[in-house]
Amino acid sequence: MPIYLDNNATTLPDPRVVEKMLPFLTTHYGNAASATHFYGWEARDAVEEAREKLAGLLNADAKEMVFTSGATESINLALKGVMEQFSGKGSHLVICSTEHKAVLDTAKHLESSGKAVSIVPVNEQGIIDLVKLESAFRPDTVMAAVMLANNETGVIHPVNEIANITRKHGALFFCDATQAAGKIPIDVNILGIDLLACSAHKMYGPKGIGALYINKKSAASKLIAQMDGGGHERGFRSGTLNVPAIAAFGEAAEISRKEMDVDRQRISQLRDALEQKLTGSGNAYINGHPKIRMYNVTNISFPGLEPQRFMMALSKHIAVSSGSACTSVVQEPSYVLKAMGLNDERARNAFRFSLGRFTTEEEVYTAGDVVLQTLSRFRS
Ligand SMILES: Cc1ncc(COP(=O)(O)O)c(C=O)c1O
Repeated sequence: MPIYLDNNATTLPDPRVVEKMLPFLTTHYGNAASATHFYGWEARDAVEEAREKLAGLLNADAKEMVFTSGATESINLALKGVMEQFSGKGSHLVICSTEHKAVLDTAKHLESSGKAVSIVPVNEQGIIDLVKLESAFRPDTVMAAVMLANNETGVIHPVNEIANITRKHGALFFCDATQAAGKIPIDVNILGIDLLACSAHKMYGPKGIGALYINKKSAASKLIAQMDGGGHERGFRSGTLNVPAIAAFGEAAEISRKEMDVDRQRISQLRDALEQKLTGSGNAYINGHPKIRMYNVTNISFPGLEPQRFMMALSKHIAVSSGSACTSVVQEPSYVLKAMGLNDERARNAFRFSLGRFTTEEEVYTAGDVVLQTLSRFRS
């Protein structure tokens, strides 16, 4: 099997997480909403235990966590729910140019239904321009949405400052923390966040389960649900709860909270070693701020290649992600890298190497060799 260096796309579920999940797929199969019997109570207890653990990761209150099907749904619920809540009072949303598509496309949807959206640019290192952010606010701005860590470059935005600016203008602050939650410490209270999205499969949990943190003291706590039905999750998100995935998510959050420092130390050393090896001989450029970024990812451009063929050659040995959103017909350079002002050539020739809890030293060593050998073959 190729060496897996695409942990920003998804992570291997931790075996401890899988073990936690399994009973809820076999003997403990109750519906968490069944209030009249043991099976339901058992499922409900598992959900509430997971909610506590996830809240613990963010220093939130368990009552502030709403389970969803993933970060995409959490983002849709936050943005559409709040903009709907405030319709009549305000209609303007501020976002950042390098947000994940889940934010960009939700904003587009809101725009097509009559809301106004301002997109704030980033600098050449991928960090949001705070001066432009400040000037983007209008009297009718309802909310600002800025991610914590970028999925392509790992660049970390100054969320605390963004939250302060947002509050100063009387707006709510939504943060997409999908790539940061479980990897770096997050305290929603210290950071001043009203709403936050996260996802289990980026922190060694299963796919298809995520959460939205809704600050109970914030006006956002009255957002309009986007899924109507049985009134689950205190009415914020109807639909039978995915108990196995939720139990697993809780476990993944707790393990990440406890092992964050160990993971960070080990993975950052491996990332730095890989990065040095790949950039050491020159003609390779790191994209994004070299320091203010996640410790598990490096986004590197290797100019002078045919990126598609290079990726094909690499993919026999290692699993990485390209800087291009590749549709079947055209290969578009990454909009994130373009928004940072990179030229087409550099954006097209960008590759994202993202490491995780299960990446070994040997894998990093071998992957580095493979990339260097493939590079010299392509360049000669
Ligand atoms: C920054 C960011 N936001 C949102 C998402 C969407 O998450 P999910 O797969 O849970 O819907 C991702 C996934 O790649 C992401 O990296």
